[in-house]
Amino acid sequence: MQDPRDILAKRLRWQARGCLVLGSPFYAALLESAAEDLERDGPVMDVLEGFENEPAGAAIALRLMGPVHRLVLDGVLPGLARHYPSTGGDGDPVAAWPLFRQALIDQGATVRALVRKGCQTNEVGRSAALLGGFLEVAHRTGLPLRILEVGSSAGLNLAWDRYRYESAEGAWGEPASPVRFTHSFEFPPPLNRTAEVVERKGCDLNPIDPTTDLGALTLRSFVWADQLARMALLDGAIEVARTFPVELDRANAADFLERELASPRDRVATVVFHSVFMQYVDEPLRARMHACIEGAGVFYLTMEPAYPVFEVRLNGELLGTTMAHGTGVRWNVNSHSP
Ligand SMILES: C[S@@+](CC[C@H](N)C(=O)[O-])C[C@H]1O[C@@H](n2cnc3c(N)ncnc32)[C@H](O)[C@@H]1O
Repeated sequence: MQDPRDILAKRLRWQARGCLVLGSPFYAALLESAAEDLERDGPVMDVLEGFENEPAGAAIALRLMGPVHRLVLDGVLPGLARHYPSTGGDGDPVAAWPLFRQALIDQGATVRALVRKGCQTNEVGRSAALLGGFLEVAHRTGLPLRILEVGSSAGLNLAWDRYRYESAEGAWGEPASPVRFTHSFEFPPPLNRTAEVVERKGCDLNPIDPTTDLGALTLRSFVWADQLARMALLDGAIEVARTFPVELDRANAADFLERELASPRDRVATVVFHSVFMQYVDEPLRARMHACIEGAGVFYLTMEPAYPVFEVRLNGELLGTTMAHGTGVRWNVNSHSP
């Protein structure tokens, strides 16, 4: 049997590399220190012990970083806050590490309880990756859209049409939106298209209400603390949600789809979509979801990992690729209809 320390340290280091590639040197360095601490049976091991049995996709490294960030944002760890960029700190991981480690000792039970709850990001940047897919469906069908999201978290990507997207080749969306994507596209999708969303709904096993202080704190805690542009997008989307809330069911994806797709709908193009979701879904649930989507004959838009990139697919067809948080979107020139 493999040593739990080896499994956990490997996962922390895998995420450290991912953080580095995705522009979070602060988290990359803290995770590297955390892996070394764990290998020496330090407090990181006390907090993570037992979690080595969870699947690799269960994001254990981010589940460690999120709770500590939450305590920083909540004012519980003022010393650490002086080094966390999200609270105006200096972003120095060497100075932050001993305080991070001490926090795991002082707040161990709280952190462990939060680790157990899981990682629940709602990454608004993914709207920029999904945008071209929605526009493609509207363009192909000429119909208004009914959009259904599974694994919505707080539902922030259900409001994609309330945001502003800018590229060297044009722009799309609300010019005055507090959510502005200015650096998302390497090769943008065609943006000279119109789309109207007439109905939207999502589901999650644990929906977050972004309009409450607690919901906003949860969402903010899972943004990497030195990624202030991501934090600004999230804060903008929370502002949009306050005036434009979306409907979210507390339901598992298959139950939700079986209910929502039970009867056909006229004069709308229904799009089922999800992003960074499938890793949490077991095979029987996947089979139920896919049977339901195929049976209903609706559009199916996904953004899921194919490491090192993430693929955006429409009914299985590759439309483009993106990085995990919706940056570096590269649309496939051949994937859209004229
Ligand atoms: C990594 S988050 C991604 C959230 C959002 N799609 C995004 O891209 O920002 C995955 C979400 O899927 C939800 N989830 C996991 N399994 C689920 C299931 N069987 N049915 C519905 N939601 C599920 C989790 O609660 C979590 O909010």
